[in-house]
Amino acid sequence: MHFTTESFQKRSEADLLVLPFWSGKKSAEPAAEFSSLKGEIAAAVKSKDFLGKEGEVTLLYSTKQPEPRIALLGLGEREKVTKEKLRRAYASLVKGCRKQKVKALNLAVPDVESMSKGEVIQGVSEGLLLANYAFERLKTQLPEEDRAVFISKVALLGQDAKALAIAKKHATIAEGVYFVRNLVNGNADEITPQRLGQIAQEIAKGNPKLKATVFDKKRIIKEKMGLLLAVNRGSNLDPAFIILEYAGDPKSKDRTVLVGKGVTYDTGGLSLKPVHPPGASTMGAMKCDMAGAAIVLGAVQTAARLGLKVNLTAVVPTTENSIGSRSYKPGDVYVGYDGKSVEVVDPDAEGRLILADALAYAVRNLKPSRIIDLATLTGSIEIALGNEAAGLFSNDDALADALLHAGTETYERLWRMPMFEEYRDQIKSEIADIKNVGGRPAGATTAAYFLKEFVGDTPWAHCDIAAVSFLGEARRYHPKHGSGIGLRLLIAFLEHRIEA
Ligand code: BES
Ligand code: ZN
Ligand code: ZN
Repeated sequence: MHFTTESFQKRSEADLLVLPFWSGKKSAEPAAEFSSLKGEIAAAVKSKDFLGKEGEVTLLYSTKQPEPRIALLGLGEREKVTKEKLRRAYASLVKGCRKQKVKALNLAVPDVESMSKGEVIQGVSEGLLLANYAFERLKTQLPEEDRAVFISKVALLGQDAKALAIAKKHATIAEGVYFVRNLVNGNADEITPQRLGQIAQEIAKGNPKLKATVFDKKRIIKEKMGLLLAVNRGSNLDPAFIILEYAGDPKSKDRTVLVGKGVTYDTGGLSLKPVHPPGASTMGAMKCDMAGAAIVLGAVQTAARLGLKVNLTAVVPTTENSIGSRSYKPGDVYVGYDGKSVEVVDPDAEGRLILADALAYAVRNLKPSRIIDLATLTGSIEIALGNEAAGLFSNDDALADALLHAGTETYERLWRMPMFEEYRDQIKSEIADIKNVGGRPAGATTAAYFLKEFVGDTPWAHCDIAAVSFLGEARRYHPKHGSGIGLRLLIAFLEHRIEA
């Protein structure tokens, strides 16, 4: 989506003119200056067919304007508007106009007294951008005329260069969200550990500030990443261990390490997941189990495209969790990168195993100022929080608060979960140093406790994104399936660090 600015009076032709309205006491009230149209739209407003409710879209046809259509877009009550309400309203515009196949918009930006210009442009542009997506690549026989048509050009009417720059920044961030959605939605047999390694290399190519390193199986054996290797045993595909570094602030020693779970398909291993009923947590959804990996790779790519002044390293341990005669066995003990032995009670709790090796590697080799991991780790977090927030676990209040703040800003909400020390006992093992499952009570917390074993005293935060990465239904500006939730959160977090 390409943003430009134009004056309202001298605007060029487009497919659609978008005019925002508040839902007034008696009838809809204009939310921006567009007096020249008053006569023309007055009838529609007067009819009360259009009331300006949040997300309400009414199309008018006109022969007198540079655009053949005018959309009246409702923003709801003026006093209650927020950035999130703007996102929702503009997302509903995108959906409302898909049938008309509009590609170019002229858009009157609402005047909102209670919000800064930047927030208004963010809400408007994110709503447009996040909804402007469909995953149709695997539909091979969809007729051309039935394929989704995307908005490719948006002229912001009467806006300055600063506003334009903000819209463009959000367009770059949305590319990152599409990147995550596409990888999550892609076939697991295509988005393999090797493919993820290639993608990291493609991201780094041609940018001297970026560097990708991919450990193959031989190197992983040499590094003694015994837990990643254990999970990989059942798979025909080799594991990979990916490191993607971005040096955006070479003078500083500060470095944020992002670790992403890269299980390209989670069958559950010998604890085979059921296929029925098809849904969010049965096997059929488990191509989503590399969402964390996609987010951290996408975040580094996006940070580099935005030229953020931060040092950032994405670390991705990646493998399938497959079933086979070589699969790792419930009851067996495996030793990880840091030397700890782990009793594998349940081979379906594989994410924490591969993350353990990645966290330990990061602590020992990457001099992290802080580590943030993102992982589709437990079904338990969905039971606790549903799918409107991801679970946040941390050993550092300042880091947790900064992430919570970024979550509020982007509406990619996090909810901090307790790590009561008594729950640590649940992962004590009789035959090894620890075990990989702590039972059903507080299942997301005991998973977090498992990870905590491998971070030492590095400030660390773990986001359990199992319930928000792969949605069973489309909602608001999120499509069905891969949501990309987490990427905007990380970028907002990094931007705030720069401002602070
Ligand atoms: N990948 C799953 C978690 C998951 C569940 C992701 C639903 C997305 C949607 C993870 O590897 C897993 O299987 N976790 C088990 C752990 C249990 C065996 C302790 C779970 O949550 O059931
Ligand atoms: Zn699993
Ligand atoms: Zn998993």
